[in-house]
Amino acid sequence: MTYQPSADRYKNMQYRRCGKSGIKLPAVSLGLWHNFGHVDVTENYRKILHLAFDSGITHFDLANNYGPPPGSAEENFGRILKEDFRGYRDEMIISSKAGYTMWDGPYGDWGSKKYLVSSLDQSLTRMGLDYVDIFYHHRPDPETPLEETMGALDLIVRQGKALYAGISNYPAEEADKAIAILKKLGTPCLIHQPKYSMFERWVEDGLLDVLEKDGVGCIPFSPLAQGLLTNKYLHGIPEDSRAAKSTGFLQKDQVTDQRISQVRRLNDIAIKRGQTLAQMALAWLLKDHRVTSVLIGASRPEQLADSLKCLDNIQFSADELTKIEEILK
Ligand SMILES: NC(=O)c1ccc[n+]([C@@H]2O[C@H](COP(=O)([O-])OP(=O)(O)OC[C@H]3O[C@@H](n4cnc5c(N)ncnc54)[C@H](OP(=O)(O)O)[C@@H]3O)[C@@H](O)[C@H]2O)c1
Repeated sequence: MTYQPSADRYKNMQYRRCGKSGIKLPAVSLGLWHNFGHVDVTENYRKILHLAFDSGITHFDLANNYGPPPGSAEENFGRILKEDFRGYRDEMIISSKAGYTMWDGPYGDWGSKKYLVSSLDQSLTRMGLDYVDIFYHHRPDPETPLEETMGALDLIVRQGKALYAGISNYPAEEADKAIAILKKLGTPCLIHQPKYSMFERWVEDGLLDVLEKDGVGCIPFSPLAQGLLTNKYLHGIPEDSRAAKSTGFLQKDQVTDQRISQVRRLNDIAIKRGQTLAQMALAWLLKDHRVTSVLIGASRPEQLADSLKCLDNIQFSADELTKIEEILK
């Protein structure tokens, strides 16, 4: 049956302004790092995309290397765009990135102008798009001058192959420099994509302040710590989990006894708040106005439906925050 998007899709989502730009992003965005590759089941990820769009998720995040194999998430997303979402491109913010190893030789990795420009051309072909909305440099490159990498983002935007430029995984000081270069070039940095969750808090030591000062949005990735901050691992490592899969990036040895004990205590607080742990972990990030959107993953539609309900309560009492800090210490 042909997919028909829900007429109510904009009813329940909240949209937040991305830094000081003209763009608003949904408070919850969907990432296609895992679960959308050629190793995954088409009908499952098709349902996830339908539910996302029907729930007001307008932002879909990809990268050249998402799969496995690398590139396959963009191919699959492009196919479903064409089959199911024809006519809805203007309601979507689609992002891609380059910065990690993508092809052999010296031009398929890191941050040269050569790599970024060719990689985006490949991504556009895979997705069947004329442009992406946001193109990111995926990680800082210690060898390429920042001026060259930011110059490549500026060029790409001027060519109309991306509407906005973003950076990911840049520490505070380097982010500040990159943002200043982009500003000078006349292509303001729209957004920064750092790893940020209850279990990963480096952004609080300066990066969030830099982004606020510079008027740049922030979209935390892996806000559920790849599933650790959900009820998934409360009683061991289930077979259908990222930690159990050979293609998953969460390693079994990251599911430590200490983590599980923290997760159980956090879960008790979530239950008292009338939330699942996933919902509380996302709400905890969204309580900060500097966070534009949380960039989640989902391996099935039910998870997405669960996570989306975080928006029902993003307020925390002082007592709840203190108790959470004690657990995270
Ligand atoms: N810029 C970067 O360097 C970078 C790096 C990583 C990710 N990202 C982006 O961030 C996105 C999200 O990353 P992520 O997938 O690690 O995010 P995440 O939201 O922290 O983890 C998603 C995983 O958690 C589990 N899960 C999600 N919701 C659940 C729920 N309600 N209940 C129980 N389990 C639940 C699922 O794992 P199971 O498979 O175990 O079911 C799901 O695949 C990526 O897709 C990508 O777009 C960017």
